[in-house]
Amino acid sequence: MGGTGHSVFFLLYVLCVLWTLFEAESQKTSDCARWCPLNSRCVNATACRCSPGFTSLSGDIFTNLLENCDDINECGPPLAVSCGKFADCQNTEGSYHCECSPGYQLASGAKTFKNESENTCQDVDKCQRKPRLCKGRSICINTQGNYTCRCPPGLELNLSDPNVCSDVNECTSGQNPCHNTTHCLNNIGSYECRCRPGWKPIPGSPNGPNNTVCEDVDECSFRPPVCHNSTVCVNTVGSYRCRCRRGWELKPGFQNKQMNTTCQEMSFPAWTEPPGIKSQRLSNFFKKVQVLRRDFKPALAQDTIQNLITSVDELLEVPSDLDALALPERHKMATHLLSELERVLRTLAKAMPGASFTYRSPLNTELSLMIQEQGDGYTTIGQSHARMLLDWAVAAAARDSDPTVMGILSSWKMQKLLANASLELDPETKAKLKDLHQSPVRGAQYELLSAVNLVFLSNTNTEHLDSPVTFAFSHPMKTPGPRQGLVCAFWKSDDRGGGHWNTTGCWTRGTSNDSTTCQCSHLSSFAVLMAHYDIEDPKLALITKVGLALSLVCLLLCILTFLLVRPIQGSRTTVHLHLCICLFVGSAIFLAGIENEGGQVGLRCRLVAGLLHYCFLAAFCWMSLEGLELYFLVVRVFHGQGLSKCWLYLIGYGVPLLIVAISAAVRHEHYGRSLYCWLDPEDGFLWSFLGPVIFIVLFNAVIFVTTVWKLTQKFSEINPDMKKLKKARVLTITAVAQLFLLGSTWVFGLFLFNPHSWVLSYTFTVLNCLQGFFLFIFHCLLNKKVREEYRKWAGWVTGNRYSEFTTSSSNQTQAHRPSESGM
Ligand SMILES: *[C@@H]1O[C@H](CO)[C@@H](O)[C@H](O)[C@H]1NC(C)=O
Ligand SMILES: *[C@@H]1O[C@H](CO)[C@@H](O)[C@H](O)[C@H]1NC(C)=O
Ligand SMILES: *[C@@H]1O[C@H](CO)[C@@H](O)[C@H](O)[C@H]1NC(C)=O
Ligand SMILES: *[C@@H]1O[C@H](CO)[C@@H](O)[C@H](O)[C@H]1NC(C)=O
Ligand SMILES: *[C@@H]1O[C@H](CO)[C@@H](O)[C@H](O)[C@H]1NC(C)=O
Ligand SMILES: *[C@@H]1O[C@H](CO)[C@@H](O)[C@H](O)[C@H]1NC(C)=O
Ligand SMILES: *[C@@H]1O[C@H](CO)[C@@H](O)[C@H](O)[C@H]1NC(C)=O
Ligand SMILES: *[C@@H]1O[C@H](CO)[C@@H](O)[C@H](O)[C@H]1NC(C)=O
Ligand SMILES: *[C@@H]1O[C@H](CO)[C@@H](O)[C@H](O)[C@H]1NC(C)=O
Ligand SMILES: *[C@@H]1O[C@H](CO)[C@@H](O)[C@H](O)[C@H]1NC(C)=O
Ligand SMILES: *[C@@H]1O[C@H](CO)[C@@H](O)[C@H](O)[C@H]1NC(C)=O
Repeated sequence: MGGTGHSVFFLLYVLCVLWTLFEAESQKTSDCARWCPLNSRCVNATACRCSPGFTSLSGDIFTNLLENCDDINECGPPLAVSCGKFADCQNTEGSYHCECSPGYQLASGAKTFKNESENTCQDVDKCQRKPRLCKGRSICINTQGNYTCRCPPGLELNLSDPNVCSDVNECTSGQNPCHNTTHCLNNIGSYECRCRPGWKPIPGSPNGPNNTVCEDVDECSFRPPVCHNSTVCVNTVGSYRCRCRRGWELKPGFQNKQMNTTCQEMSFPAWTEPPGIKSQRLSNFFKKVQVLRRDFKPALAQDTIQNLITSVDELLEVPSDLDALALPERHKMATHLLSELERVLRTLAKAMPGASFTYRSPLNTELSLMIQEQGDGYTTIGQSHARMLLDWAVAAAARDSDPTVMGILSSWKMQKLLANASLELDPETKAKLKDLHQSPVRGAQYELLSAVNLVFLSNTNTEHLDSPVTFAFSHPMKTPGPRQGLVCAFWKSDDRGGGHWNTTGCWTRGTSNDSTTCQCSHLSSFAVLMAHYDIEDPKLALITKVGLALSLVCLLLCILTFLLVRPIQGSRTTVHLHLCICLFVGSAIFLAGIENEGGQVGLRCRLVAGLLHYCFLAAFCWMSLEGLELYFLVVRVFHGQGLSKCWLYLIGYGVPLLIVAISAAVRHEHYGRSLYCWLDPEDGFLWSFLGPVIFIVLFNAVIFVTTVWKLTQKFSEINPDMKKLKKARVLTITAVAQLFLLGSTWVFGLFLFNPHSWVLSYTFTVLNCLQGFFLFIFHCLLNKKVREEYRKWAGWVTGNRYSEFTTSSSNQTQAHRPSESGM
């Protein structure tokens, strides 16, 4: 039964194969499998064979209907056909071939080959290829199978395109390929080193375009000369400058030290008369200067300098109308003369041919000049009156290649012009002196010891020097006394053209027998002064204040007494009263306003000075009236009343008003001084006070002597039995009272102009301050009637009214001249 099952299966199978074979046979041959897939051919009715280059899973021949024939990769394993060197195997459908690698080709020119043995692959020269592979200036280099592009020197391959070369800027690449005497010039692919302007290649040095070494060209050696013949050529590194020759100055419109500088012969600088000074002598001097100016030749500059100095000497020497000039005018002229001399001498020195020059005039004015191209460190210059030590850099005008000039002119004659100018001490010195003397210094008088030394340099900017200049000034030996000192001062010009001595920025460094060493941080005209310090005496100031205060109180009491005490009313009391009023007002103004704060003379100070002038003059006029009254009282006692009230007021208030009015009209600017609000002694202005005072004092002295003499006579006539002792006492007291009253104490004041008589100063101060006190004593306290009145007042105040009657009754018994000396 199983046999039948197999049989059926087998049968079906056979039928199927048969059908297949039939089918195949029906295609080609009858014994060919008709199902052979692509790339295969039938072997027989049941088997196929893959075409060459193809294979199936079960090999070349297969019988399985489901198999296919696939391409064999001959290039890959396991066959891995070797094509040989420089060649690559290329698999194709059913076959393969060999090809030369890129950059190679077969010697025959064929493209492919089959067998290693046919390999004739060889390198081709890529650099011959068109278009060129390496572009621009790059150079192609053939390699085995490849090429590279190289760049010529100075170029480098562009990073983004290796076939292109770009330029390298050697000049900015930081390597500084050129010598520092040249400057670098970049070219495409190279660079050059060119000499800087004004330089030339050093002969014999490497002279390639990229290694040149240069040196400065000395343009000054050129022919024809590069500079104008009025100038001197100065070679500089890389260039040159033309500088005026000695004795020549710039032509207008040109600048110094340019290449085109042109100069003209130096001329004497213009020097004109200071305006506002009328002096024939000064005009003559300027006429001489004009002649010197006209005849000036740089080559003869030294002669001109000598003549100029002699002319200045003459101007100052002979007594002339210069002596008549007022002080401010003299100082104005001195300032002008000093500053202009400095300017003119500086210019003339530059024209001077030599290197140094010293001249001593017949009148002992001495000039020392030095002119030098270059210098270094410290330099000394000087003559017998003055020497100077200074840093060269200070003398030379900044960075100037002009020759440097230094000079000192020492003139004794100049002293006369600069005398009696004020001396302003700097705060530092004042502070030191205050420490030394334990009291503030108000100011200083002085005496000029040395010559006036005018110092000048090329450098005109000498207000603040970088390093101080040291001087030694000769002067006659003099030992400073107490409250004195040697001071180095300089002449400081002010805005109004005048000037004064100033010590700011100058220090006295030391002094020997006959010279003083000074150090100054600026330049102008210097001198050594012997200063007499005006040191405020605190004791004197205190005495003045206390005395004046006491005086004021006493004067007030006097005024009240003279106004209110009826028994003594009369012509003499009126005089007393107005004297006291004038003194009171004067003293009060003095106490309140005499000191001038701030040093500036303002309206307040002028007013105070004017009022003081008026009050004290009025006081003196009333004093003279006292004298007159005394005279009338004693000498003309039986001949009626003295002067009428009208005359009293006219003399007492009118005369001083007239004097002050005239003074103010003539010289109102002399009211007020920098320290005190009093009259300025300049021009003798003080005599508008001293004159009347002296006249009145003398007048009163005469009256005093006459009166005392007459009194002596009268006492002996009227009172023959009076004891001699009492007579003498009364006389003495009256005389002393009159002495104070009539202002004789002011006689002491006349000696006050000598600031060193301290005894006199004290006496004067004490006596004058206490004048009111004395007036009170002599005219009130020592007057019997006044005393009685005081007693009455005192009683009235304490409630005792009986005394009033006693006094009034005694009043009626008084003599017809109530004010007649009650002593
Ligand atoms: C066909 O050829 C294969 C191999 O050549 C062989 O094995 C097979 O017997 C052949 N078939 C017939 C029917 O001849
Ligand atoms: C290549 O050629 C050599 C001799 O020329 C031969 O011996 C070899 O069989 C050949 N190889 C093929 C794969 O044709
Ligand atoms: C040549 O070499 C470079 C690298 O060196 C490569 O990038 C380039 O493809 C090569 N060219 C050829 C033709 O082989
Ligand atoms: C490199 O080549 C590119 C394109 O050619 C260009 O734009 C670039 O400027 C080049 N670079 C240099 C450094 O020359
Ligand atoms: C060049 O360099 C040298 C030192 O290497 C230096 O002494 C010289 O001053 C320099 N010159 C210039 C013109 O810079
Ligand atoms: C300088 O120039 C010379 C001649 O032109 C050349 O031979 C040399 O290589 C250059 N040197 C440099 C550093 O460029
Ligand atoms: C400069 O040259 C001019 C002519 O160009 C001549 O007249 C003059 O005298 C010369 N000056 C000097 C100082 O040599
Ligand atoms: C001289 O040269 C300078 C420049 O070097 C120029 O500014 C000036 O105007 C010139 N002066 C004259 C007078 O030619
Ligand atoms: C300068 O002062 C002195 C003394 O103080 C005096 O003798 C002289 O006349 C004054 N000179 C002038 C010009 O005022
Ligand atoms: C003194 O001179 C100095 C410096 O020149 C100046 O500052 C000062 O104001 C002067 N003093 C007086 C009082 O003129
Ligand atoms: C100053 O003078 C005295 C005598 O006159 C002398 O003995 C002394 O040496 C002098 N001093 C100086 C520093 O010149």
